Amino acid sequence: MSESTRRAVVIRTALAGAAALLAQAVARVRPADAATSPGHPAERPAPGPIARLRDIPVGGGMVVRGQWVVTRPERRVVRVFDAACTHQGCPVSEVRDGLIICPCHGSRFSITDGAAVVGPARRPLTRRRFAILRGRIHLR
Ligand code: FES
Repeated sequence: MSESTRRAVVIRTALAGAAALLAQAVARVRPADAATSPGHPAERPAPGPIARLRDIPVGGGMVVRGQWVVTRPERRVVRVFDAACTHQGCPVSEVRDGLIICPCHGSRFSITDGAAVVGPARRPLTRRRFAILRGRIHLR
């Protein structure tokens, strides 16, 4: 075997070994990365408090971060809904005159139970479970 052939064999062997080590490292790292990345559903962090109870007007409500609607139909009654309109998914934009309003096609929803009271939406807004801790509303 010539010197150049021997050198080529040594380089190929070294590259193959390096590739195998890299493949093992990737295989070890991937599952942990997938489990801890912020977008992974199992590890998605809780959003923390989404609103303070005292900021929700009695007889009205507010849209929070474009994602949820918190309403307070009565002083001691609080509701949380997803902001996605059940017609075509636009985020509802405001709470006015006791109704949750979608700006896209004009649907209106009850602040009490999320029912569609003016179409084109027919289905109610999706209710969310929550807890009130020290005057702050937390999703569950
Ligand atoms: S998406 Fe809300 S009314 Fe159409």
